Amino acid sequence: MIPQETVVNTISVVSKAIKQKIEDSSWDYRGEFTKAYTHGFHSYPAMMIPQVARRLILEYSNEGDSLLDPFCGSGSVLVEAKLNKRYSFGIDLNPLAILIARVKTRPIEPKLLTKQLWNILENLNALQIEEIEEPNFFNIRFWFKEMVIFQLAKLKTIISNIEATEVREFFQVVFSEVVRLSSNSRSSEFKLYRYPYERLQSHEPDPIKLFKNKAMANIAGMEKYYSEARDPYWARPILGDTTKLTQVLQHPIHIVVTSPPYGDSRTTVAYGQFSRLSSQWLGLEGYENVDKKSLGGISVATLHCSLPSETLSEVIKVIGKADERRAKDVLSFYIDLNKALIEIDKVMKKRGVLCFVIGNRSVKGIRLPTDIILAELLTNLGYCHLATIIRNIPSKAMPLRNSPSNIAGRVSDTIHKENIVIMRKG
Ligand SMILES: C[S@@+](CC[C@H](N)C(=O)[O-])C[C@H]1O[C@@H](n2cnc3c(N)ncnc32)[C@H](O)[C@@H]1O
Repeated sequence: MIPQETVVNTISVVSKAIKQKIEDSSWDYRGEFTKAYTHGFHSYPAMMIPQVARRLILEYSNEGDSLLDPFCGSGSVLVEAKLNKRYSFGIDLNPLAILIARVKTRPIEPKLLTKQLWNILENLNALQIEEIEEPNFFNIRFWFKEMVIFQLAKLKTIISNIEATEVREFFQVVFSEVVRLSSNSRSSEFKLYRYPYERLQSHEPDPIKLFKNKAMANIAGMEKYYSEARDPYWARPILGDTTKLTQVLQHPIHIVVTSPPYGDSRTTVAYGQFSRLSSQWLGLEGYENVDKKSLGGISVATLHCSLPSETLSEVIKVIGKADERRAKDVLSFYIDLNKALIEIDKVMKKRGVLCFVIGNRSVKGIRLPTDIILAELLTNLGYCHLATIIRNIPSKAMPLRNSPSNIAGRVSDTIHKENIVIMRKG
């Protein structure tokens, strides 16, 4: 791992917004299995581990409560909400994330899925060349080998003909993961980086075999979920922008459990880019704008900071001296985050609890204390701080492998810990 930006400076702040900060290794869940139930259906950047979501739900809400994950990604929190008898909403502006979240939270009789899987495999053999619908998006032959395109097109054709939406979407999620694994992009990266020429020579993925294996693994996960996820506790993933949350959600909320992006998509995780190839194959609309619409997606024009966080003003001043452009990126992220918090507050019930799981990344060698900035912004909205828990991210489960300078293969080592900020509405 190459340290990309060595931290040379941490803004030292004693914030009145923070009441107690504790390092507690019981939140690390080192070595624990994180792919039970439907959690292993599809990879997604910076997934929340189920154990953390479950513990927050159980400690800070009651059976029958309504939960919101305003940055739900692939829906890990929603899965845990349903398993633990909470009604839940999830918001995300990435259409692929919403598809995955829908499939992960919707119980389907596993026998039906197994039967359908055998139908798919049988139909593949019977498919005539002229029936195959091959997509033709920009650069498809750069990202996929000819044989892979042919096999994926066969799978896609058969899957799109499945009549029942729930079953079709289940197999679309399997297919999406196969697209990712059989593309020419390194599967260990969240950004699109093509394998180097020499490595490509030996890259011979077999999409049909990958599909069969992944489908069987997902059906096994569904079996456990199906037997434990109980009605009437629904989960509703909704495509939307959390900075405009109340346009899509008005339901009163008891608890928020979420892991928002760590920073703007240009310099942290580009969720749109991660989802591009699958979305193109599946014909999902709207993936093109995900990174621009994400928090901080459009940089502010000036460095004027009027947000109610002293810590943020200090940070922006220091980064601005080193690099004005990066400081604007940083500021635009927090401005959007604050818009999202104002919207979330509108649906929160009195005494409702917010649990934010966040990493403090660094920019220009300066650690950004997002946990403190978040607590200050929320204090201004009338929330009181209950605790900030610091947890270690065991390296095997490291959710963030990013490249702050967008250099292929470079991985930041700046986040090994994350903070769980817990606040209660006044
Ligand atoms: C850290 S990921 C969440 C991962 C999730 N906890 C999981 O386990 O899969 C953050 C998510 O925030 C979403 N996002 C970013 N800006 C958003 C916005 N303004 N409105 C809604 N979602 C947004 C991204 O698309 C991404 O899926």
